[in-house]
Amino acid sequence: MADAAAPKKQTSDFVAALEAANLHPLWDRFRTLTPVKPAAVDPPLIWRWRDIEPFTARAVSEVPIDDVERRALILVNPAFAGETVTTSNLIAAFTVLDPGDRARPHRHTFAAIRFATQAEGAATIVNGRRCDMKNGDLILTPPMCWHGHINESDRRIIWFDAANIPLIRQLDANFFEPGDPKANQFWQVDSGDEKLWAEAGMAGSDVTHAPAHSPKYHYSGAAMRRLLAELPLGPDGAHTMRYTNPATGGPVMPALDCTAVRLPRNQATRPKRTTCNMICLVVSGSGRSTVGEHSFDWSQHDVFSIPHWSFASHTAKDGDASLFIVSDRSAFERLDLLREELQ
Ligand SMILES: [Fe+2]
Repeated sequence: MADAAAPKKQTSDFVAALEAANLHPLWDRFRTLTPVKPAAVDPPLIWRWRDIEPFTARAVSEVPIDDVERRALILVNPAFAGETVTTSNLIAAFTVLDPGDRARPHRHTFAAIRFATQAEGAATIVNGRRCDMKNGDLILTPPMCWHGHINESDRRIIWFDAANIPLIRQLDANFFEPGDPKANQFWQVDSGDEKLWAEAGMAGSDVTHAPAHSPKYHYSGAAMRRLLAELPLGPDGAHTMRYTNPATGGPVMPALDCTAVRLPRNQATRPKRTTCNMICLVVSGSGRSTVGEHSFDWSQHDVFSIPHWSFASHTAKDGDASLFIVSDRSAFERLDLLREELQ
């Protein structure tokens, strides 16, 4: 018996000696280093609009816009131990602007989007183009594009934001440049070159564009709703459209991806899982989702996460429902790490 125990002690002495020399034995660590499949640290979570809305009112009364870079409330999953993360690689938030508020210009290497939930009368300026925000509009702010926001309406504006800040932090690749908050010319622009990309299926032969991301920054909510109404059902039982770069047909940005889904009433979608991470905003309707072992009901402007490699199925109740989904799918495609399974 003593002989059988001896090699173990020898091994643990050896591991300790290696660690003291800043070396790790692979045979002792490979289960941690190379798990057999992904395992998200976060369970799915739902943030209900009825819980968030009172905080948006409090934010405008207690936080002057001139004192902060952005007046946004970020949705955080406590599974990330206090880190500002919604689900792996992604954050989502709601921004609130009172009449006359301006969120000063800046730019950064993380990618971000805005989806207009109650933003009629707001505008986002992206690289010198004014993008008016109508119901359901999507605005891209690709990496290192200057952007600022303004509320020129006479009522409070709220929109949904998402960004890949956790991914860029993990890579320690963030650069951030503040703009001049007093530069009035920043705001005095029209839609500019956005008009060059406004006609689906048509592009200027001699128009150049940055190849890394979509040259189109503004995607109309009305067009999204029209297309979703016409699209056939996909293999999972939902009508799904992807926002694309009109110059390539690919995703809108290299590490942030957007889709919209219409769910037919009372028909559960087939459970699907993917290696990428998703955040779903309920655009319209109500329903129920099962993500992994968790099920929850949702209604308009609720937000829920689908952590990677978790089976997710959705059912619209009462009538059709639609979701806007932001994900890190295009990053996984670039790394050739995208896997999907349909049950
Ligand atoms: Fe920004």
